[in-house]
Amino acid sequence: MALKDNIQALLGQVNELKANNAEELEALRIKYLSKKGEITALFNEFRNVAPEEKRELGQLLNQLRQTTEERIASLREAVESRESRAESKLDLTRTPDPIALGTRHPLSLVREEIEDIFSRIGFTIAQGPEVEDDKHVYGMLNFAPEHPARDMQDTFFVEKEIGVQKPTDVLLRSHTSSVQTRVMTSQKPPIRVLCPGRVYRNEAISARAHCFFHQVEGLYIDKNVSFADLREALLYFSKEMFGPETKIRLRPSYFPFTEPSAEMDISCNICGGTGCSFCKGTGWVEILGCGMVDPNVLEACGIDSKEYSGYAFGMGVERITNLKYRVKDLRLFSENDVRFLRQFESC
Ligand code: DAH
Repeated sequence: MALKDNIQALLGQVNELKANNAEELEALRIKYLSKKGEITALFNEFRNVAPEEKRELGQLLNQLRQTTEERIASLREAVESRESRAESKLDLTRTPDPIALGTRHPLSLVREEIEDIFSRIGFTIAQGPEVEDDKHVYGMLNFAPEHPARDMQDTFFVEKEIGVQKPTDVLLRSHTSSVQTRVMTSQKPPIRVLCPGRVYRNEAISARAHCFFHQVEGLYIDKNVSFADLREALLYFSKEMFGPETKIRLRPSYFPFTEPSAEMDISCNICGGTGCSFCKGTGWVEILGCGMVDPNVLEACGIDSKEYSGYAFGMGVERITNLKYRVKDLRLFSENDVRFLRQFESC
């Protein structure tokens, strides 16, 4: 039974084996498992064992070899992970890799420039909800109940219950003029605000139209505000935005919430007004709608139209960006293609 005792003694030993590095580990492998190792020697002895003992001793020997192999493998894992941790130790003296910074979105750059220009003449920023109600988007802005802008073709209506299409007055705002009504019902004149934000219209997406885009609305309400004040503010804005040579012209137009209403053109900033393909040879490009706030709107918002008057204007941020940076395809603004976005880095 000497063999059995030897096997058991070794089994006790291998469970206690330790190794601090690869060399010690290799020494263990040689000591037990190599051709001249202790376990191999026991296998050699096994050949002389009496047949009736072979079964029991054979099993024990196999168990010893397997346990030893497993122990050495687990020691190897521990040694290797300790070594790789040591290798990847932080080197605080190393020059850091440059961090890839994102770039500003062109629409944000332009919106901020508009905000900046108007803030220099006293405008502050006001915000309103994108999910609005009919009253603030249309009703209080003097849209007649049957006005086509409310039509399903233009406005996204929001179902109050998912999947239930009932007539609803909840909608995604189709213009930032809705923020005018929010501001006028919550603040007292004088009011001088700029309302930037996203708006939604039920349009098929193409290079020239999108189902969402961005506007900046301006509103100034005080005593004795005149159309001349509106013209002066817009001329100042145009020169700041497009350069001191820029001229403006106001063409009569119609909006339900302003009276009189106008659309404003600037002298084409590509050809300087002499006529080119961009301005279709006219020398002018349209950039915004504006007018004197209709007294009906003032009254609907609780402002005395005999005491106060005001002007409003609204412009598309995409339109201004197109004029400044020649981005003709609106879809580029929402596709997140970094090759497009990176171009504005140094703007
Ligand atoms: N809300 C108009 C639109 O989306 C733009 C606009 C026109 C705003 C005239 C105004 C304004 O404040 O006075 O087309």
